Amino acid sequence: MRQDWIPLNCGENGVKNKWKVNCLDRHVQTCPERVALIWERDEPGTEVKITYRQLLELTCRLGNLLKRQGVRRGDCVTIYMPPCPLAVASMLACARIGAAHNVVFAGFSSEALADRIRDAQSSTVITVNQGVRGGKVVDLKRTVDQAVQNCPSVQQVLVAMRTENTVAMTDRDVPLEEEMMKEDVVCEPVAMDSEDVLFLLYTSGSTGKPKGLVHTQAGYLLYTSLTHRYVFNYHDGDVFGCVADIGWITGHSYIVYGPLCNGGTTVLFESTPVYPNPGRYWEMVERLGINQFYGAPTAIRLLLKYGDEWVQNYNRSSLKTLGSVGEPINTEAWEWYHRVVGDGRCPVVDTWWQTETGGICIAPRPSDPEAEIVPGMAMRPFYGIKPALLDTEGEVLSSNDSTGALCISQAWPGMARTIHNHHQRFTETYFHPYPGFFFTGDGAHRSKEGYYQIVGRLDDVINVSGHRLGTAELEDVVNQCPGVAESAAIGYSHDIKGEGVYVFVVLKKAVMVEEDVLAQQLREMVSRSIAKYACPDFIQVVRCLPKTRSGKIMRRVLRKVVERNTDELGDLSTLDDPDSVHEVISGHRRLC
Ligand code: PRX
Repeated sequence: MRQDWIPLNCGENGVKNKWKVNCLDRHVQTCPERVALIWERDEPGTEVKITYRQLLELTCRLGNLLKRQGVRRGDCVTIYMPPCPLAVASMLACARIGAAHNVVFAGFSSEALADRIRDAQSSTVITVNQGVRGGKVVDLKRTVDQAVQNCPSVQQVLVAMRTENTVAMTDRDVPLEEEMMKEDVVCEPVAMDSEDVLFLLYTSGSTGKPKGLVHTQAGYLLYTSLTHRYVFNYHDGDVFGCVADIGWITGHSYIVYGPLCNGGTTVLFESTPVYPNPGRYWEMVERLGINQFYGAPTAIRLLLKYGDEWVQNYNRSSLKTLGSVGEPINTEAWEWYHRVVGDGRCPVVDTWWQTETGGICIAPRPSDPEAEIVPGMAMRPFYGIKPALLDTEGEVLSSNDSTGALCISQAWPGMARTIHNHHQRFTETYFHPYPGFFFTGDGAHRSKEGYYQIVGRLDDVINVSGHRLGTAELEDVVNQCPGVAESAAIGYSHDIKGEGVYVFVVLKKAVMVEEDVLAQQLREMVSRSIAKYACPDFIQVVRCLPKTRSGKIMRRVLRKVVERNTDELGDLSTLDDPDSVHEVISGHRRLC
C-alpha cells in the first residue's frame, strides 16, 4: 500500500492569502498547523494527519486543476471516492470554484453510479485507482470505467492513486496527483450567492429513481456548523470522530462541513468496525484521542455481540459525547453504548435527521449540556426546528403522549431546496401530503413530557444498516429478471441491520426455476444494479401477491406475514383473492 499518497509541497502561500473562506482560509490565518483531517487508513496505526495549511494547499491545487480541465462555476462534478483527504479536498475544491459536487458512495454499483452521473450531467468524475477496506482491495476505477461507458456527458475522469497498483488509463483519464502538482497553491475562491447550489446528494424515496437533493451555500453551512457545535458539545481543540462514509449526508455534514467550518480536527475512517478485530473503533479512540464519537446503531449492535472485552481493552477516557444516527437505536444497544463504551459517564445523543434536512433536527441536548436524556429517544428539537405530529386526517396532534406523521412546520437554514431537475417531485413528495408542512416520511411519538421518539418510516423506504432503500427501486431491478412477472419488496426487523429485505416474487407462466438458482440470480442483479447492501435476505416465490380489487399490493399484509403476526392481518375484505394470503403464509421462510 502507498504510504506517501498525499502530494504536498508545504509552501507558505496558503497562509498569506487574504480570503475569509469559512472551512479553510479563516483557520489557516489563525492556526495553520492545526490538524484538520486525521485519515484513519484501513491498517490500524498508519493514520495520516493533514493540517489546515496542507488542506488549503491541496484544495487550491485541485481547484486550479479542475479549472484547467474546463470545470466552470455552476457545473456539477461527481466524486466516487472512499473517505480520504483527496476526497475532502475535491469537495472543497468544487465549492471554491463555484461548482457543485455530487459525491456517490463508493459502495454503489456501476449502474447506480451511472444513473447519478447522468442525472447530474457531470462532465468530470473524480475517483481513485482502488479502494482499501477491511484488508481487501476494491477496484473503484474499474467501476467508474463501466459506469462512464453509458454516460455521454463525461469528458474526463481524474484518477488518484490510493494503492501502488497501476490501472488501465484511457485518453479520458487524468492522473490526479501528477497534474495537481503542476498547479499553483493559490486559487481564488469564487463569491457565491447564499442560495447557490453547494452540492447534490442522491437518496432513495418510496417511488421512482433516487432523487438528487440540492443543498445550498449559506444555510447548509450555518446549520451544520451550529448543530455540530451544540449537539455534540464540541469545543475548540476536540478531535471529532464520525465513522460514517463521506458518500452519505452524515459524512458531508459531520465529517466535512460542520467540523471544518468550526476549525475542528475531523477523522476520516476508511475501514470497518471489525477490521482487524472488533476492538477497532476503541483502539482508534485511544490512539487518536477522539473526544466525540458518532456512529450508527447497526455497528453498535454488531459490536455488542462480541462482548465487553473488546471495548475495555482500550482507554476511552478522551471520550466526552457519543452520538447515534441513521436509524432507531434500540434500548439494549443504547444502554451498552452508554454503560460499556462511555463508562456510564458520556451522554449518548441519538440524533434524528435526514439527507433532506441537511443537519440534525431532533437531538437530546441542543441547548443544555446537562439536560435529561431518556434512552433511545431523540428528545428535543434543535433551535428553529418546529416539529408537528399529524394524524391520518391531516389534523395536528397538539397534546403530548401522541403518535403521528412527523412534519416540520417552518423552514430552517439547512433544508434541501429542491430535487435536481425535478422541482415538482420535490413539492409533491414533501409538501403535498400535509399541506403547510414539510413531511419527513417518518412517524414519531411525543411522550407525556414532550420528548420525541422516532418510530420509523411511514412510506415504502427500507432502512438497511442505516442506508435508505426504496422498495420501488428494488422491485424495478427484480422485475427485470426474465422469469419474473412481478414482485413486492418489504423490510422486516433484523437484529443487526435494523431492517432486512424480504422479496416476494411471482414468476411468469410456465417458468420453472429452482428457488436457490433464482435467489442467486436476483441477488447478483441487485448487487450489480444498486449495491451489495441492498441484496434481499429472503426471496419467496408465490403464485400471486395479495392485492386490493383496484390492483394495489397489500404490503401491510405481507409485512404482518413476515413478522409472523398472522393473527393481526387486519381487514382483508378488500382483497381480490383471499387465498393468496394463505398461500403466502404457508410458504413463508422462517427468519433467522
Ligand atoms: O427514517 C429516518 C432514519 O433515517 C432516515 C434518513 O436517512 P438518510 O437521509 O439516509 O440520512 C441518514 C443520516 C441522517 C430518516 O428519515 N433516521 C435517521 N436518524 C434516525 C433515524 N431513525 C431513527 N432515529 C434516528 N436517530
